[in-house]
Amino acid sequence: MSNNEKRLAGEAAIRYVEKDAIIGVGTGSTVAFFIDALADLRDQIQGAVSSSEQSTAHLKKLGIPVLDLNATGALTLYVDGADECDPLRRLIKGGGAALTREKIVAEASAQFVCIIDSSKRVDILGKFPLPIEVIPMARSLIGREIARRGGQPVWRDGVVTDNGNWIIDVHGWQIADPVALERDLNQLPGIVSVGLFARRPADIVLVGDQVMA
Ligand code: 5RP
Repeated sequence: MSNNEKRLAGEAAIRYVEKDAIIGVGTGSTVAFFIDALADLRDQIQGAVSSSEQSTAHLKKLGIPVLDLNATGALTLYVDGADECDPLRRLIKGGGAALTREKIVAEASAQFVCIIDSSKRVDILGKFPLPIEVIPMARSLIGREIARRGGQPVWRDGVVTDNGNWIIDVHGWQIADPVALERDLNQLPGIVSVGLFARRPADIVLVGDQVMA
């Protein structure tokens, strides 16, 4: 993991920010560099839609207006980090437990620019445990469903998401078909969202300041 690459990626994403736009903003240490850089443009944008309480606090501290997605309508740009990224720009996200709101804002955005350091690149997703946000009463049910599919569920004990839910991290999956797994898991009652961004992958991935081919 390289903090310098994270900073370069966060700063490079600024080139996708257009005048008067409302920017979708993700969560995490790489996004923190993006927010710092966005502050220099605060008078040239309308504001941001945030994916977490953590990013909201950072945005507000730097004087960037935080807007409600229900009021803004569709966005032109979403910038967020990732825990893993495959060559087709499909992602594992949710290491910071913000996956559900991240998925909502990504879905609402025409362009998703993902900012990572080179340690996040993989050929096959799954070395990073897959985060799944669950309704608390469904934790054991979902754990059994994951075990039936060959995964090892680990409850992220003590973590409560911004939505009041819990996180299960799934170890031991080599995710050969992330679109199919995302679809399958999304059918299970009790799962709020799955940290696979495969059906809606990133459009552009910046590894440091370089666009991933
Ligand atoms: C938070 C996320 C983050 O984007 C992901 O965990 C990467 O974080 P970082 O930039 O700190 O490495 O999905 O839920």
